[in-house]
Amino acid sequence: MIFSRRKYSSFLSTEPLVGKQSAANRRNNNLSIIAIVFSVFLFATFIYNEDLKSITEFPFSSKPKDSPLPLVLDTTEESNSSIEAMDPISQKPNLKKKKKCGEEKREEKTKVPRLKEGGQEDRAWVLDKTVVRLAEGCDVYAGEWVYDNETRPDYREEACEFLTEQVTCMRNGRRDDSYQKWRWQPRDCSLPEFDARLILERLRGKRLMFVGDSLNRNQWESMVCLVQSVIPPGKKTLVKNGSLNTFRAEEYDATVEFYWAPFLVESNSDDPKKHSILERIIMPESIEKHGKNWKGVDYLIFNTYIWWMNTFTMKVLRGSFKDGSTEYDEVDRPVAYERVLRTWAKWVDENLDTKKTMIFFMSMSPLHIKSEDWGNPKGIKCALETLPVLNWPQRPLDVGTDWRLFYAAVRVITSMQKAVSFVNITALSELRKDGHTSVHTIRQGKLLTAEQQADPINYADCIHWCLPGLPDTWNQFLYAYIASGTLNA
Ligand SMILES: *[C@@H]1O[C@H](CO)[C@@H](O)[C@H](O)[C@H]1NC(C)=O
Ligand SMILES: *[C@@H]1O[C@H](CO)[C@@H](O)[C@H](O)[C@H]1NC(C)=O
Ligand SMILES: *[C@@H]1O[C@H](CO)[C@@H](O)[C@H](O)[C@H]1NC(C)=O
Ligand SMILES: *[C@@H]1O[C@H](CO)[C@@H](O)[C@H](O)[C@H]1NC(C)=O
Repeated sequence: MIFSRRKYSSFLSTEPLVGKQSAANRRNNNLSIIAIVFSVFLFATFIYNEDLKSITEFPFSSKPKDSPLPLVLDTTEESNSSIEAMDPISQKPNLKKKKKCGEEKREEKTKVPRLKEGGQEDRAWVLDKTVVRLAEGCDVYAGEWVYDNETRPDYREEACEFLTEQVTCMRNGRRDDSYQKWRWQPRDCSLPEFDARLILERLRGKRLMFVGDSLNRNQWESMVCLVQSVIPPGKKTLVKNGSLNTFRAEEYDATVEFYWAPFLVESNSDDPKKHSILERIIMPESIEKHGKNWKGVDYLIFNTYIWWMNTFTMKVLRGSFKDGSTEYDEVDRPVAYERVLRTWAKWVDENLDTKKTMIFFMSMSPLHIKSEDWGNPKGIKCALETLPVLNWPQRPLDVGTDWRLFYAAVRVITSMQKAVSFVNITALSELRKDGHTSVHTIRQGKLLTAEQQADPINYADCIHWCLPGLPDTWNQFLYAYIASGTLNA
């Protein structure tokens, strides 16, 4: 339910947005910019893609202390689930260190009897039995980006009819395509190459669903492209219906879905077409409204981050939208975030069966707003970047990620009964300042005009990612989990 504007504006006028920030933070803010942006957007509702300007021009959190939390994410001890047993990150040794990706998988088809050549069914059977393993104890998130124009990209932009205009950067005028050609190379092992047929076998008769904000939609589009290439025309469909987008691979009776819920919990931003970032209010203890749509799904991939980032506090409703409540409290971002994740965790623990459902949580997708952060004072946000951060010798790279939320997620997930795989993409994605859609994208549903493209300060989107591109790597991590899994519901 969306608030009536009038109610809202009276609230907002007595509730200055910057009023509750700390003095230190306030000093960094350009109040006049905020005032302008604020008034421009106060009455605007935004369409499907979040309004970037309102996010990017707001102050981001000043550096929270990096907590030296132990970074073990296995929930093994607390959990009886079958999933952690096949966590690819703790699988058996991969002796073929840094072999060309993909080879280890072929070699590890264990107990697969030799079959005659050909035969779709045989191939399906082989794939179904194929075991993908990763090295034991190998931290797949520690590594480096290597330029690899032979195996990348995984698909061509123009070959994936399902890509939306938001992410087709080359078609939208980007000149350099090297952002498509970086491969993530873990230090101590290799990631298995994405095999679309194999993952489709895993998904046969099943549903895979991304749940969250537009970054998860970004990743969903990538996943659709990664799998659709092996499906003949006419055997695949994409249906958008309200909060739910469903890609269906008919011959596999499999779906790859995206469900819009930018906070996971109920909020006044639940309409995928009509919502406002500035006017957002959440109900941190209310999740069933969305959760009922996730039940029975076989693979669930959650995220929530970007909608938290434009203010230091979150508006938390007193009462319920249903009862017409409009009063809210302003709660510090990390506090509200953890409350939301605890609600989510409780829901997962009470409603999902890890024998049937594999559960993932994507860590935060970073932004690249201040080019000084990566040592390029002449840059304009991410707009001029054509290379990842390579050989960064200076202080730890700091692009403004709110690590407090990252560690809140770690805390919550490690305290859950059910096994949830935390997909730790944040640090490795921070290096990819070159991968954003920048000015080669849409805004409020329309491709940027030439004038807008020439004005990256105001129009560059340094939040979302071009496809093919970085989210394909995120899906390679998911693939490693799913392909190595043996869920047979
Ligand atoms: C996430 O990965 C980075 C390297 O990409 C690593 O430094 C960090 O310790 C990892 N964090 C967790 C919680 O696993
Ligand atoms: C785990 O299993 C043990 C024994 O099989 C049982 O007592 C315990 O309640 C289970 N814990 C959970 C979280 O299911
Ligand atoms: C890959 O890059 C190398 C070096 O930049 C270049 O010589 C080679 O032609 C490229 N190969 C392809 C297939 O584009
Ligand atoms: C769209 O979703 C609504 C509610 O979830 C459902 O009732 C309706 O049948 C769906 N429409 C299509 C075309 O799938």
